Amino acid sequence: MKGIVLAGGSGTRLHPLTRAVSKQLLPVYNKPMVYYPLTTMMLAGCREILLVVNPADEESYRRLFGDGRQWGLEISYATQPRPGGIAEVFLIGRQFIGNDRVGLILGDNLFYGDSLPAMAERGAKGSGAVVYAYWVADPSAYGVVEFDAADPERPVSIVEKPKDPRSNWAVTGLYFYDADVCEVAASIPRSARGELEISDVNAHYLREGRLTVEKLGRGYAWLDTGTPSSLLRAAQFVETVEERQGLFDRAHRVVIVAGGVREELQRAFLLHRFRLDLRMPWMGLAITSLGFGLGHTLQGLDAAIGFVEAFRAVLGRADILEPRLVVVDEARGADGEADHNVIDLVVLAQLVELVAQSDVVRDRREVL
Ligand code: G1P
Repeated sequence: MKGIVLAGGSGTRLHPLTRAVSKQLLPVYNKPMVYYPLTTMMLAGCREILLVVNPADEESYRRLFGDGRQWGLEISYATQPRPGGIAEVFLIGRQFIGNDRVGLILGDNLFYGDSLPAMAERGAKGSGAVVYAYWVADPSAYGVVEFDAADPERPVSIVEKPKDPRSNWAVTGLYFYDADVCEVAASIPRSARGELEISDVNAHYLREGRLTVEKLGRGYAWLDTGTPSSLLRAAQFVETVEERQGLFDRAHRVVIVAGGVREELQRAFLLHRFRLDLRMPWMGLAITSLGFGLGHTLQGLDAAIGFVEAFRAVLGRADILEPRLVVVDEARGADGEADHNVIDLVVLAQLVELVAQSDVVRDRREVL
């Protein structure tokens, strides 16, 4: 699947902040805004990413991301010369999309939630168009979706920034489409403000019965960052989570693993294979979902480099990870509660070495 991150627009609601700087490069606490949607795309399993930017900002984005190789991505760039609407990216990115399914995320949208990887993967692997709806107090600034009174999962209309919203369900800035979206975008008329509206693309899929709208419940946060207040609130949200957990600001020297040692191996494998630099993760898990199923990766690990080598690969990157590297091994006890074990990686590597040298143990993973 391909992914597009749209980081264009003029950001007028943030003037004068955005007069000289691209909106999506403004800080959200400790990272440029665009890091967050890019991470969401990674969580959806996208490795090939097209970044659509204003011509004047291309140079800055290239300085920030390069070709994306440091994170195992392939990032390419395209420009949107003037604000022509979100759906214009499907004309600009037509060649990039080819015959593939494509995800689009707006560069000012910030998603947070434990089930985000699964939620994004459903969109990536779904059919037709998949979009997400989030309950907001004031939906009139968004695309608004109305659901069938008799069937609360069935969308019946989508309207862009209605004066009189028919529901509180705002359509978020994360969308997945089949390759037909390029044709659809080319066929819709421009709106009164001269733009190709993404809501018109979605309404088209809805009319054809090919639109899925997934509701995001209270386990998710969806924030946008288009005004000074919403930008500040997003920064405070990130600060709250990061400071409380103390994980993310140390992401450059701590590998955060949810789900146990297996994922640590997966990470090690990715690091070895793609020379991944783990400075990126905002949610810690981004790196684990670069198109690798866990089973696949474990097979790959066993066959390709083996257990011990994987750990050597991690230790070999001490320049980035620092030797204080720890593994958080999360296991679920009988009561369903998570147990967290923090293990010094050097100790763990020694353990693995010991285990590897003994041929008594068949499945070395069991020991860990
Ligand atoms: C855009 C879309 C709107 C969507 C919103 C999500 O609006 O046109 O349908 O709900 O993004 O962030 P914009 O914020 O560009 O005005």
